[in-house]
Amino acid sequence: MSEQLERVPFTDIHMDDSTKDAVTDALESGRYVKGPQVERFEDEFAEACGTKHAVGLNSGTSANLLGLKSIGVGDDDDVFVPAHTYFASASPILSLGANPVFVDVRSDTYTIDPDDLAAKVAKSDAAKAVIPVHIYGQMAEMERISKIAEENGLRVVSDACQAHLAERDGKKAGSIADVGTFSFYPSKNMTVAGDGGMLVTDDDEIAQRARAFRNHGRDEDGVHRHLGLNHRLSETLAAVGREQLKHVDEWNDGRRRAAETYADRLDDIDEVIVPAEDEANEHVYHLYVVQVPDRDGLREFLDDHSIDTGIHYSTPAHEHPAVTERVGETTVEFAEELCDRIVSLPMHPRITDEEVEYVCDRIEAYYE
Ligand SMILES: Cc1ncc(COP(=O)(O)O)c(C=O)c1O
Repeated sequence: MSEQLERVPFTDIHMDDSTKDAVTDALESGRYVKGPQVERFEDEFAEACGTKHAVGLNSGTSANLLGLKSIGVGDDDDVFVPAHTYFASASPILSLGANPVFVDVRSDTYTIDPDDLAAKVAKSDAAKAVIPVHIYGQMAEMERISKIAEENGLRVVSDACQAHLAERDGKKAGSIADVGTFSFYPSKNMTVAGDGGMLVTDDDEIAQRARAFRNHGRDEDGVHRHLGLNHRLSETLAAVGREQLKHVDEWNDGRRRAAETYADRLDDIDEVIVPAEDEANEHVYHLYVVQVPDRDGLREFLDDHSIDTGIHYSTPAHEHPAVTERVGETTVEFAEELCDRIVSLPMHPRITDEEVEYVCDRIEAYYE
């Protein structure tokens, strides 16, 4: 049994000297919004994702909202979204007056289940869009989802807020959809040291609409043809994002290495179900989530041994009161069961082998 460690943090956010220098330069430039840092960050991010456009925004939530708005989602449209996701995959649907239809997730990868999607789309007479969420850092089955979308005239907004530079069959997250959305919230695989987001697309019209919507609905000629609010990204934050983007691939490799060690060790414990990686995917392990019996007891035991854990998420998206008030109660079977069994283990690019082994030793001890 490994020796007790002082604390194994859940995550760790890295800011190096070149990031601090970039922020100082941005501050000294005197340009704080609508400037060159955001433009360069957009170009670099689009290139990294393999898309024609990227639009910098003030959060991942705004990216989901403006993504849906830019493809024309509005009153009474049905938008299909997994029940197992963060609330902000679903809340923009309601904000636009549309109707979220909650779809179950696959029992192995936890991404949206294409069979359940097809069944629910077949029952809808207002089907408009689907939001596959690349949950925990692994892409959904985009080829099956794209086929269902094509056959039923749906647009696709892929929520890649947890999957920066993840890949499926060599294509980057966000690129196999009408719109891809990203969050730079501090705990994500890359951050802007604050709130921020990005929308990517190959479609000129979607990009133009999103740019207008983020800036009070103002087109490039200065006319407000749309109703929009302020969803802009700031210059100093974009400067941080540009520095972080340089490291994401290397950081994702660090996460994958830790995931491999976790899987090697935890797969041998009968009570623990480790996450499955679809073989077409390069998972970037934003979170390392296992299923266990007696989740709360395990968390308490790990906390007593100085190991931080989390739950993502304890309530499925369709059960939040803000949702049920609007669309009533629904049942999404597997997503509901999953919420009671999941626990997220410490995961970040700099987690050491010693720390991962220590966490595994303590989980093993708990179930012995
Ligand atoms: C899957 C998912 N969608 C949307 C969001 C919203 O992003 P933000 O917190 O930047 O608004 C998040 C981030 O927490 C997320 O994990």
